[in-house]
Parts: sequence; structure tokens; C-alpha cells
Amino acid sequence: MSCLKLDYSKIYKFLPESFIENNEEIVKVALDKLINKTAPGYDYTGWVDYTPKLATHELEDIINAANDIRSKSTCLVVIGIGGSYLGSKASIDLLSKYYSNNDFEVVFLGNDMSSSRLYETLEYLKNKDFCVNVISKSGKTLEPAVAFRFVKELLIEKYGDEYPERVYVTTSRVNSILNDMAKIEGYTRFYIPSDIGGRFSVFTAVGLLPIACAGFDVTQLIKGSIIAYEELNNLPLSENPALIYALIRFLMHKNGMVSEAFVTFEPKAKMIGEWWKQLFGESEGKEHLGLLPISLVYSTDLHSLGQYVQDGKRILFETFLDFRGEKEKCVVNKDKKNLDELNYLVKKDMTFIKDKAMEGTIDAHIDGGVPCIKIEVEEISEYTLGYLFYFYMFTCGVSGYLLDVNPFNQEGVEAYKKNMMKLLKD
Ligand code: PA5
Repeated sequence: MSCLKLDYSKIYKFLPESFIENNEEIVKVALDKLINKTAPGYDYTGWVDYTPKLATHELEDIINAANDIRSKSTCLVVIGIGGSYLGSKASIDLLSKYYSNNDFEVVFLGNDMSSSRLYETLEYLKNKDFCVNVISKSGKTLEPAVAFRFVKELLIEKYGDEYPERVYVTTSRVNSILNDMAKIEGYTRFYIPSDIGGRFSVFTAVGLLPIACAGFDVTQLIKGSIIAYEELNNLPLSENPALIYALIRFLMHKNGMVSEAFVTFEPKAKMIGEWWKQLFGESEGKEHLGLLPISLVYSTDLHSLGQYVQDGKRILFETFLDFRGEKEKCVVNKDKKNLDELNYLVKKDMTFIKDKAMEGTIDAHIDGGVPCIKIEVEEISEYTLGYLFYFYMFTCGVSGYLLDVNPFNQEGVEAYKKNMMKLLKD
């Protein structure tokens, strides 16, 4: 049985009963474009069957490098932006405990332009025994490149001529200054396949090396993605959660919705929301089309944006992501005085309370005209996360082709870069 379910039972208030049968043909065409590589962007669809084909030795090389990093340091600095850090950051945040005494830490840098963050991180690293993983597919993105220049200076200061042993580069084999630099300096290198774009690269060394360094089982992550590949590439539309999700997104867009909100009640999944935003935003926001992806963490955001969602402009629908299988239970005990009047919750645990809050929220939002669907994941684990990442990427590929855009380019990102470079070099 699959570890992921899509619950769209409440969508029928907004879509006809027969919405799946009515749209079989258009989904088939979109799916065909993705699988049979017949549409623009086909040369960036290597991720579709990347993990089933991943050679054992390639995975082992990554795991060995992670073990090596862990044995010679206590900290890994991951330098990258966009698809070059979001997948690993999201994974580590989701899989980690809220409070842990880990003897190894992963620090992220080079994903913004904050001078104070850079300064404070460099100060912090002065007292750490660290290695660096610089990740950039193009090898020339400004934020990670500048951050690496600073970190490299610190590495040389701390480790002298031996510093290259502490640098791990993940980049393209060709046309990458970073690769050229890595060869000259003798850094360990991992290559990103040319047919996999940044936001689809979590299952390559881009995601796997930092995740393995954080102490998580990347073989399980890969296993989850392979099962997702097998299921989602074969299930018929009526039973296929990714295809149905893609279709619902497309119909919402067609019916005038402007935005899709990723909603989770699990704060650890906040960065999954950030990863998801980049995936869908950069893949579909083209030709003046696409749903604006936003992400919300409830119940926190019910106390900020909840009002807007319930009563504001009717422009969005919500996709809830719910993780089941929580092992640790927090059960409410009886309080003799009951001054807080919460004894009605006695023997109920926090998950029950959250579930009721979610149910109540979904019903209220639906009543208020906000379509809601739910993705339910069996538990939080490396395996289910691998499944979930693949599920979202597969949905995104089909959804982009339903919209008739090329989901795999991102030419719009270049506009600001051109201006910035001109201004910086003037
Ligand atoms: O999805 C993408 O391709 C982009 O978001 C990139 O991941 C991001 O711009 C970083 O690029 P690079 O890895 O080349 O530094």
C-alpha cells in the first residue's frame, strides 16, 4: 500500500463529480509529453527515472564522502541557493528532532545576500572544525560564489595547504567555473547530470551529500523515490494521486484561482513548503500563467493569514500536507482545579487536538469558498520523504505540461541577474 494518499473528497463542491473522466485525454497528453520527452524541456527530464537507474557505486561514493566529512570535522557548511540547497535543507529540517545534541551540524550559507549573516557565520565557523560543500549547477551563481570566496579564505587561515581536502564541490561537468576551480585546487567533485535542473536535483549529490552528512539514511530516501516512480508512472489516472493533484491544480487555474497555498500543521515541514514553492513557482510561472505558490504553517498562520483565507479575496485554494504516525504522544492529564477549563481534553493527545483543528479549518475554509485537498503521508521518515519529493516533482512536470508551458526552464530568473551584474561591474 502506498505511503501517500490524496484526499480530494471535498473538492466536489467546486468541481463536477466527473472531473476526472472528463479530463482523461488532456492528462494523457501532458503525461505523454513528460514520459516520452515530446515537448519543450524534454532535455531536462532526466529526473523522471534517475533514481531507478542510479548505480550502487554512485550512491556509495556519496555515502563514503559523507562519512569522510563526519570523521574529519564536526560541521558541514553547505553553500548553495535555490534548487542547490532547498531540498537538503527541507529534508534535514523535517527529519531532525526539534532539540538534539547532535555531534555534527549542517550550516547553510550563500542563499541570500545578508552581510550580517555572512559575517556572523564566519565568526561562528572560526571555532568549528568544518568542511564545505559548494553546490552550484551553473557554477557561477553570485550568492554561493561570493560566500565561498569568504569561506575559502577562512579555510586557508585554519587549515593552510591542506584546506582542499575539506572542500566538496557539486556542479556540472562542463561549462562550470566551479568545476574548473575544483580541478585546479584538487577539491573532491560530484557532478549533476546535465538533464536534471536545480529544483529537480534533490536525489543527486546536490541533496544527498548534505542529507547523508546530517546522519540520515539516503538509501531509504532513494528507495522511497523508486517506489513513487514505479507507482506514479503506472497507476491509471483515477487511482493516481500525482495525476489527480496535477489535474485539480490545472482546473483551479482554469476556474480563475490565482494562488495555491501549501499548508502544513507540522512546523518541521516549513522548508518543504519553501522547496515546493520554488518547484512550482519556477516551473509554472511563465507566459503570464501559473498559480502563485504560497506556504502556510498552521495553526501559527491561522492567527495571522487565517482571516484572509477565510474572508478575503477568493483567489486561492489550499493543499494540506499531513504527516501521520507520530510515535511520541502528549496526552492531556486531568487537573483537579480545572482553572483553565481544559478538562474536556483529558486523555486526548496533541495529535487528536491537531486533527480536529485541521478538520475544523478545512470545513470552515470550504464553507468560505476555499477549495481544500489533503495529501496524507504515512509518517515522517527518509523513505516517505523520498516518495513525497518524487510525488511533487512528477505532479509538477505533468501540471506544467497541462498548462502548456515548459516546466523545466527559468529564463525569467535571468532578468534581475543581468541588471545586477551590470550595476556591479559599472
Ligand atoms: O531550479 C533551478 O535551476 C534554479 O533555481 C537553481 O537551482 C538556482 O538558481 C541555483 O543555480 P545554481 O545551482 O546554478 O547555482
